[in-house]
Amino acid sequence: SSCRNPYLAASKHFVEKDLEVSAAGRVFMITGANSGIGKATALAIAKRGGTVHMVCRNKDKAEEARADIVKETGNKEVYVHVLDLSETKKVWEFAEGFKKKYKTLNVLVNNAGAIMNQREVNAEGLEKSFATNVLGVFILTKSLIPLIEKSLDPRVVSHGVLWGMLVQKLRIGNLQSDRGRFDGTMVYAQHKRQQVVLTEQWAKAHPTIHFSVMHPGWVDTPTVANAMPDFHRSMKASLRSPEQGADTVLWLALSEAATKNPSGRFYQDRRVVPAHLPLAWTHSSPLEEQKLMALLEDMAKTFQPH
Ligand SMILES: NC(=O)c1ccc[n+]([C@@H]2O[C@H](COP(=O)([O-])OP(=O)(O)OC[C@H]3O[C@@H](n4cnc5c(N)ncnc54)[C@H](OP(=O)(O)O)[C@@H]3O)[C@@H](O)[C@H]2O)c1
Repeated sequence: SSCRNPYLAASKHFVEKDLEVSAAGRVFMITGANSGIGKATALAIAKRGGTVHMVCRNKDKAEEARADIVKETGNKEVYVHVLDLSETKKVWEFAEGFKKKYKTLNVLVNNAGAIMNQREVNAEGLEKSFATNVLGVFILTKSLIPLIEKSLDPRVVSHGVLWGMLVQKLRIGNLQSDRGRFDGTMVYAQHKRQQVVLTEQWAKAHPTIHFSVMHPGWVDTPTVANAMPDFHRSMKASLRSPEQGADTVLWLALSEAATKNPSGRFYQDRRVVPAHLPLAWTHSSPLEEQKLMALLEDMAKTFQPH
């Protein structure tokens, strides 16, 4: 839309036929699929004939988005599941129920993400954006891995934030953000760093699944408009559309080219990019990364249904 939009320059190196693929017969789950990049992802997959499970917290918004997608694509294999990812026990119940009901899940897209203006806790006493961005993603993915693993060409694509990688080193000492001033945007950036670590660790532990985490670029969506109103106003002309923001997600979820890259990497504009600046202070030790996994594992177990 604007000559300042960086997508236009980046897309010059794209191989168009990478995404000229059918998704028929493949099953996708997309969290936060009612809005922004998640909705654009769901629509593009439905257009290619894929079955889409939309996981959303608001039933009305989700049904409305589903109706749009079905109308625009003619694909009726689009299903709504109501789940608030900040509700830790419910995430478990949902994932375990899904696994019992469905035989296939080829691709999980961890798209939903939240920035909180102030610190709030959920019913389990956990800070809500952590519960959504980290523990919710952890439990959903962990619980579904056995189903994903037995599906063909299985993949898990998660959302990272490039600027978050530059400002946040993995910190495991304040997972609940209950010490110091609560800066929701920085907390969110830390969660995205944690998602990058999760992706790297899962890739090692589950070699038959292709894991990736990607930065969509700066995209004009409600999350950005609400959490960063000044930035949104001043940058509006150079923000990407949700469709442009969904491009790399789709490439990672659908293309054959993506699976030629090793699992566990960070992407922007269909390319592997470093999740750290050269020699940066943002690197964490393998020990800290394993500690994060162990802490999440323990926390997840505490709330696991029997
Ligand atoms: N926009 C950007 O510039 C940008 C840059 C880097 C990364 N990202 C990432 O892109 C992803 C999608 O965000 P977006 O920019 O497309 O924003 P968006 O349009 O606001 O979409 C966010 C989605 O996440 C859902 N969500 C939030 N909290 C949830 C919860 N507790 N349970 C279930 N769903 C929840 C929202 O549901 P409701 O509609 O009900 O609120 C919405 O569907 C996020 O992970 C974000 O971090 C975006």
